[in-house]
Amino acid sequence: MWGLAVRRAPQENMTNTQQKMQSEYWNTSGAERWQRNAHHLEQALFPFSAEIIGHIAPAPTDNILDIGCGTGDLSTDLACLTPDGQVVGLDISAPLLETARNRNADAPLPNLSFILGDASSWQPSAYVDAVVSRFGVMFFEHPEAAFENIRNMLKPGGRMAFAAWASMEENEWVSAPLSAVQAYLNEARPGPLPVPAPNMPGPFGLSDRNRIEHILAASGWSDILISPWLGHLEFQDMQSLEGIVDFMTSMGGVARMIGSGLIEADEARAAVTEFLTPIWEDGTATIWRAKAWIVSAKNPEPE
Ligand SMILES: C[S@@+](CC[C@H](N)C(=O)[O-])C[C@H]1O[C@@H](n2cnc3c(N)ncnc32)[C@H](O)[C@@H]1O
Repeated sequence: MWGLAVRRAPQENMTNTQQKMQSEYWNTSGAERWQRNAHHLEQALFPFSAEIIGHIAPAPTDNILDIGCGTGDLSTDLACLTPDGQVVGLDISAPLLETARNRNADAPLPNLSFILGDASSWQPSAYVDAVVSRFGVMFFEHPEAAFENIRNMLKPGGRMAFAAWASMEENEWVSAPLSAVQAYLNEARPGPLPVPAPNMPGPFGLSDRNRIEHILAASGWSDILISPWLGHLEFQDMQSLEGIVDFMTSMGGVARMIGSGLIEADEARAAVTEFLTPIWEDGTATIWRAKAWIVSAKNPEPE
């Protein structure tokens, strides 16, 4: 892979609590949740692959790194578009990378490979033309340092494009079931519920547009463009009310509430089922309002 001369030494690996927690999460329950729902997620997240690919406009010879590639959906699409280049999917999750490798096992793409590594410190053996990420760059404890490390993966003039969720409130597929569970708890066991601190590493860690701009400018990027993506996530292959209840209780804030013991899984399922039943009956339970940021930037050419 990328057999050019080895260049700058990788940065010292940052050891810190959040980064360790993320690694642990994505190698245990986070991976299980993502694998269990991968089919639904890949279908619903396809529009973001199209946006990212549109911004990168890959040439057939491009070498591209997909950060936080998960089960390799975007990496695979990119490898088909760059037959004379190389695509590498990078992720901290060994189980998700195994799924990514297995999905291509029958007809492996010769220009596609997957590597276990932390994007905040890992470096490729040669500069790449482009880095992309579909919802894989919101988990850094030190985002400025991580985005500087990512910029250092690129050739001068190399480009980056990624998608990151806007606020949870603007993403009803996460906020609506969570509100249903919180309303149930308020009634069943009144008391304060934990409120996540803003900007913490996690799915909504880059939800603030101004913060993204500040992080990228501070880590040396040029040509920063941040556009809102406003639309709907469509889970069209949900066959039953039970299926969508399972999805909404095994992902996001509800899954975390169950995982942290704030609510029993059966109680959460009952609360989400009650909330979803009328919406399922009127046919709108598979389409949810969503908002994300589509971000592109460049590693500046030297003056
Ligand atoms: C929300 S999932 C997105 C997966 C995939 N990009 C997709 O759209 O299907 C986030 C992914 O980022 C990975 N991830 C989180 N922190 C990372 C880091 N510091 N370096 C590399 N991957 C990371 C997780 O393991 C997980 O696979």
